[in-house]
Amino acid sequence: MTASFVALEDVCKIYNQGQPNQVRALHNINLVIAANSMVCLQGASGSGKSTLLSIIGCVFPPTSGRATIAGKALSRMPDRFLTIHRRNTIGFIFQHFNILPDLTVLENITLPLMPLGIGPGARKERAERLMEMLSIGHRSNFPARQISGGELQRVAIARALINDPPIVLADEPTAHLDHTLSLAFMEIMRELQRAGKTIILTSHDPLITQHPAVERIIAIEDGEIHVP
Ligand SMILES: Nc1ncnc2c1ncn2[C@@H]1O[C@H](COP(=O)(O)OP(=O)(O)OP(=O)(O)O)[C@@H](O)[C@H]1O
Ligand SMILES: [Mg+2]
Repeated sequence: MTASFVALEDVCKIYNQGQPNQVRALHNINLVIAANSMVCLQGASGSGKSTLLSIIGCVFPPTSGRATIAGKALSRMPDRFLTIHRRNTIGFIFQHFNILPDLTVLENITLPLMPLGIGPGARKERAERLMEMLSIGHRSNFPARQISGGELQRVAIARALINDPPIVLADEPTAHLDHTLSLAFMEIMRELQRAGKTIILTSHDPLITQHPAVERIIAIEDGEIHVP
């Protein structure tokens, strides 16, 4: 059997559990994503795509059920180990970027390397390679609040890749990119997959959902995996 990088068993996520504003975002999700594959989560707004990606991305554990990410069981993991596992394993390109506006492009990209004790020279060298690949090198010293939406998205991509993580997650990655940049983004994802990484995307964009590199579409409806 192929080594499964991601395995979810009866995973549920309830936000604000026991409160009047409780939301059941995911219900009994069973899903195996093989290592080194490229898949896309697809579903209506509010169906649970970002929540599912957050569990796979070790942002928070499921409310119930079992999630095994790159060989580690999240449910039994204390918070600080979850954080360490996330830093070592996950590159997350968030739907709303989570870029810090007052830091420069270079500072934002190198932020994940800070807790790892990598020196400034090595940090800059790694970031420069990524900025060149993503055509944002000319913005390196700009504060992030002064750059365009498409540039911000590429900063988010560079920051997700700076750690060379085995799993790359991207939530609606082409939402702010034009056609050419979207195609370039998918080429980068294809290269990463060729380099052995597991890629999990969410998107409505046909450019992604019908891209030849995407091996599997996982449909989500009201927090459940929809089996056609
Ligand atoms: N932090 C939160 N607290 C409470 N409810 C939340 C929270 N985050 C998401 N939800 C709710 O959980 C459900 C799933 O949300 P989620 O963000 O996973 O959907 P999505 O499929 O990513 O939607 P979109 O396509 O709009 O990004 C929605 O009903 C949403 O309102
Ligand atoms: Mg979302």
